[in-house]
Amino acid sequence: MNDLQHVTPDILWVGGSDRRLARFENLFPLENGVTYNCFLIQDEKTTLMDTADSGVTRQFFENLEIALQGRGLDYLVISHMEPDHCANIEEVCRRWPGVKLIGNAKTFQLLRQFYSLDLEGRTLEVQEGTEVPLGKHTLRFMMAPMVHWPEVMFTYETTENILFSADAFGTFGGFSGNLFSDETDYEDLYMAETRRYYTNIVGKFGPQVLAAMKKLQGVTPRMICPLHGPVLRGDTVPLVMDKYHQWAAYKPEKAGVVLAYGSMYGNTEAVVHKLAGMLAARGVQDIRIYDTSKTHYSWIIADIFKYSDLVLASPTYNMHLYTPMETLLQDMIDLNIHGRDVGIIANGSWAPAALAIMQKKVEQEMKHMNLLVPPMLIRSAMKPDQQEELEQMADALADSVKAKAKEC
Ligand code: FEO
Repeated sequence: MNDLQHVTPDILWVGGSDRRLARFENLFPLENGVTYNCFLIQDEKTTLMDTADSGVTRQFFENLEIALQGRGLDYLVISHMEPDHCANIEEVCRRWPGVKLIGNAKTFQLLRQFYSLDLEGRTLEVQEGTEVPLGKHTLRFMMAPMVHWPEVMFTYETTENILFSADAFGTFGGFSGNLFSDETDYEDLYMAETRRYYTNIVGKFGPQVLAAMKKLQGVTPRMICPLHGPVLRGDTVPLVMDKYHQWAAYKPEKAGVVLAYGSMYGNTEAVVHKLAGMLAARGVQDIRIYDTSKTHYSWIIADIFKYSDLVLASPTYNMHLYTPMETLLQDMIDLNIHGRDVGIIANGSWAPAALAIMQKKVEQEMKHMNLLVPPMLIRSAMKPDQQEELEQMADALADSVKAKAKEC
């Protein structure tokens, strides 16, 4: 059964929501699924904006066949060649053999790598600023390399002022039934997942995201159609664009402290809880505590982007770091997270390697990270004579948060 919806009288959503998928990219847990958005523009030329993941193939084709109303398909625009969007290109070409594939040079290079399609006479290669008229509508292409892959491009529809933004401005989460962001409480329903999606999927590429957004300065889209999540409309357009400017610049949204710890038997955890209580006593309101063994690192990464300050606490394990903490720190390095004020707490019973390893990762392998106080070393369990040292860390963190409260 089709579940297509109208974006405008001439533009239809023909994608699908997958609530069964456990992990996006087989990596990131999905609590409420994900949508794969595709749009059909009905004009003199019928134009499909992207295909969808193999998990929603049936829904996608049921929607597309109904939306076409028996007409053929003239163009398929390929904004992004990641398989969550390109998985049905071969089948589209099989059903509509006359379709022309619109992409850039890198699009077609990746298309040849993923599939064995005969592209001879089937492609329309576009570059920055190329315009393709469809009848009433005209598509203008803007290259957006590394938002999230090198071939990514935005498409601006100039008649109705609609931006097709590929992965940018998208979110995890299946549709609630409402296609448009301003039909829901977007901040309540989607913003945390918008942040987790951006920070984990695209977060490494902040400078490239800012470069792509600079190209949008001359346009004021009435709507943004991302490849995942609701169509953005109304106040949500500037809201999400502002968030992207902050995230892409690695600027914290709020003054507050994330405390991420690993703990085998509760001794490191106890120090973190004690520190959190000290912060609360000093008036810090936004304190987020995460056990790295329990909470998937993607949620912790999202809050590290969100908040200004960070405490990392880990025992020594196999002469290295506790594995979930190692994963978190390596992901922070890979995502280029920088510009945070940090406290470090390390534990070790006989050869406490964790302190030097965490300090090196934070100070040398990440950029512009500031250790507020020297790292604190716990030998098995914190003792009363270390109370003062922990108080000093709490003082430094609380002062740091208060100083930023006016900026964030
Ligand atoms: Fe939704 Fe980068 O794929």
